Amino acid sequence: MDCQTDDTGSLTPMELYEKLSAQGDKVRTLKTEKAPKPDIDAAVQLLVKLKLEYKTATGQDYKAGCPPSDGPTLQDNGPSVTEGEDLVNPWNVTTTSAKGVDYDKLIVRFGSSKIDQELVDRIERVSGQKPHRFLRRGIFFSHRDMHQVLDAYESKKSFYLYTGRGPSSEAMHVGHLIPFIFTKWLQDVFDVPLVIQLTDDEKYLWKDLSVEECHRYAVENAKDIIACGFDINKTFIFSDLDYMGSSPGFYRNVVKIQKHVTFNQVKGIFGFTDSDCIGKISFPAIQAAPSFSTSFPQIFNGRKDVQCLIPCAIDQDPYFRMTRDVAPRIGYPKPALLHSTFFPALQGAQSKMSASDPNSSIFLTDTPKQIKNKINKHAFSGGKDTIEEHRKYGGDPDVDVSFMYLTFFLEDDEQLDKIRQDYTSGVLLTGELKKRLIDTLQPMISAHQQRRKLVTDEMVQQFMTSRPLDFNY
Ligand code: TYM
Repeated sequence: MDCQTDDTGSLTPMELYEKLSAQGDKVRTLKTEKAPKPDIDAAVQLLVKLKLEYKTATGQDYKAGCPPSDGPTLQDNGPSVTEGEDLVNPWNVTTTSAKGVDYDKLIVRFGSSKIDQELVDRIERVSGQKPHRFLRRGIFFSHRDMHQVLDAYESKKSFYLYTGRGPSSEAMHVGHLIPFIFTKWLQDVFDVPLVIQLTDDEKYLWKDLSVEECHRYAVENAKDIIACGFDINKTFIFSDLDYMGSSPGFYRNVVKIQKHVTFNQVKGIFGFTDSDCIGKISFPAIQAAPSFSTSFPQIFNGRKDVQCLIPCAIDQDPYFRMTRDVAPRIGYPKPALLHSTFFPALQGAQSKMSASDPNSSIFLTDTPKQIKNKINKHAFSGGKDTIEEHRKYGGDPDVDVSFMYLTFFLEDDEQLDKIRQDYTSGVLLTGELKKRLIDTLQPMISAHQQRRKLVTDEMVQQFMTSRPLDFNY
């Protein structure tokens, strides 16, 4: 806890970098020496805090071995956070708590509503289906206007689904699957159209990648998305780089949104600065536009009143707060939202699984052996240091990454409950818990890889062609 009270606010980026490197070494040493868990936790917490401060001071993620650059960089953005608050925006998710982001506080801060038991029961009644495990377990935990969507659906007014992916690399990780798995379930139970935006333009603007690379990643990612099982007759997947130039309806909505949001507003929402390129500043309008049915005249026959429902993790909410603010001013219904929690990094719930840190992630391209090694080596454990202590005091499933992952993917509620009890009481050891996870993830990812192999170029082409879907509007 030595530096917990240090004032790091006055340090230069280079001093912060050096402090961070030293703290990283300290964490590694403590872990190697099997130091007491509270000491390791305290050191990790300080490391996360320093990373956050480094990010705020430099606009860059801390990377071991890469000192801060002082020239112009491709900066991430994000509004600053008040001391003690979790950082949650489209570019960063960090918290100092080993249990992860405080989602109840986030609901209050973002002004959304909790998905309570009453709403889960209502979704069950209206859809006639057992609620998905993501709903049963509070993984989708927050919403905006979901009751309105259900009211309309009950009086035979349809809605459509919209979700997306920023194709920053060829390989997606398991965390990216969460919104897509849930969206597929929603499409199946409600039988509605779905549009999926691939923001290759966004990734070109934010990352050090060429336009061609981003477009290629969009097509590659589309294959993983299709492998989730979406219905080709009910789903339109589009690359912004392709669709923007070919769809007058879409571009008209983009400019309408651009006209109704000021630079000041996007600075406040996204933390843009004067040195951000103008592409970034106007990009939120492009992510907002698919929330309006007139962006897809080929599907909705020009109707402007079909409400949109957006499933995503809560990091994307800033885009849609902005969209909901603009919607009535340009004559459209506000999109409704369903927000998920984050699938945590292997190292712990202080950050989300992120493609930019390969060791934090299990990728959809990983082999069974890689999955096993990553979990055994990196998955943060809530277990005790020795078997004797573990048997005596039990483990803590609330900070244990393997247990958290099982809550996302183990379908059987009773089995999950038993694992929680056995781990808490010390009957189940960390190695055994990790094995349960490995046995759950290996077949799941292999099955995904098999389905992806069956996705042909023609299928991708068809999903990505602007066309009417199997609905009459
Ligand atoms: P991207 O590519 O960062 O993420 C794609 C989707 O995955 C969610 N997500 C996660 N969910 C759970 N746990 C995680 N660790 C995790 N990491 C990412 C994201 O919330 C997102 O739903 N700008 C967007 C692309 C986009 C979009 C949209 C997303 C365009 N339109 C509409 C959702 C809805 C992006 O870069 O997502």
